[in-house]
Amino acid sequence: MAPLLRCLVITTTVLALQAPRTLRPKTLRQATQLEQLAEQTVLSIDTGDLNIIEQYAKGGLISDATTNPLFVAQAGTSGDARYVAFVDKAIAYAKANSGGDDVVSLAMDRLAVELGLEIVKLVPGYVSTEVDIRASFDTEESVRRARRIIAMYEAEGVDRSRVLVKLAGTWEGIEAARILERDGITCNITLIFGFAQGVAAAQAGARLISPFPGRVKDWHAANGGAPTYEPDEDPGVVVVRRIYEYYKKHGHGTICMPASWRPSRGTSDPSYAVDEILALAGTYLCTDRMTIPPPLLELLASSDEPVPRKLEPARAAAACADAELVYDESSFRLAMNADLAATTKLAEGINAFIGETAKLQAAIEAKV
Ligand SMILES: *[C@@H]1O[C@H](CO)[C@@H](O)[C@H](O)[C@H]1NC(C)=O
Repeated sequence: MAPLLRCLVITTTVLALQAPRTLRPKTLRQATQLEQLAEQTVLSIDTGDLNIIEQYAKGGLISDATTNPLFVAQAGTSGDARYVAFVDKAIAYAKANSGGDDVVSLAMDRLAVELGLEIVKLVPGYVSTEVDIRASFDTEESVRRARRIIAMYEAEGVDRSRVLVKLAGTWEGIEAARILERDGITCNITLIFGFAQGVAAAQAGARLISPFPGRVKDWHAANGGAPTYEPDEDPGVVVVRRIYEYYKKHGHGTICMPASWRPSRGTSDPSYAVDEILALAGTYLCTDRMTIPPPLLELLASSDEPVPRKLEPARAAAACADAELVYDESSFRLAMNADLAATTKLAEGINAFIGETAKLQAAIEAKV
């Protein structure tokens, strides 16, 4: 669906959801922040709960959805009958199709695909499926697992153009994306916290990156930065804006899709919860796409403060002060090493997903 059409769908839905407000004639009502935002960027919701995805997708509110080790582990370890059935299916599949490979890891990949096959029926856009996070420093294994995930989707009639394989923003993950993208396997490079990761992912031709401005702000808050910032100066906003401007100036088609949001100005006012969203979407910069969790979508829908769009792609390109960079492994690692926020948050993010993956592995092993 064209972005504009999606925006129109989102706008209509929001109007329909807000029962009390529809008492006023539509034309006299101020657009909510969510409606204004939806005109500027494609929105997705971050949740593994199929019921929530279904609810929002039915209303046309989301275009893409994603699974991650946390969601898959929650599904795999929940007692919910619907998810138990997916786990049983995944194990049966793995037993029948492992061909000598490790049954448990195939069952884990299959479970992520089972969830993805459901999500693909609910949303019109992309579904993202995580490659085993434990392969984050192994290009060859990442490529093998990604190809296997795509083969499972395609065997079920879902074309690779609907799927993004998620890889961590390590050198090895980004190199895997370079190989996969050549075969039309599109990649979502996640756990992006630094400029060098954004540059390297684009250089490798990744379809999409997911930077996490909120966690970048967390790092600065915990390491001598200010406790609060003006949204435009929030270090998380600054890094995403810098990557976005770089893409526009140097002609990279990689989609910049931030997720993970914190209140730049602190928690003294509940409306500050959407500071980073507004700083990146409307008030300063329009990113290509955005992932927003349900509570923040609701907050945006409840405000009709203006969301001015200060920066267009062309103006972003003009604002970029970075020359085109070409990283090799050594210069990438040096740049990451110099960026302690990115290095630390990347390590923490991978470790957290490894923890979730281990829980899921234990649950599956108990059933195999
Ligand atoms: C890409 O992955 C990120 C991180 O998990 C997620 O927030 C985002 O929604 C994904 N994008 C798409 C289009 O699935």
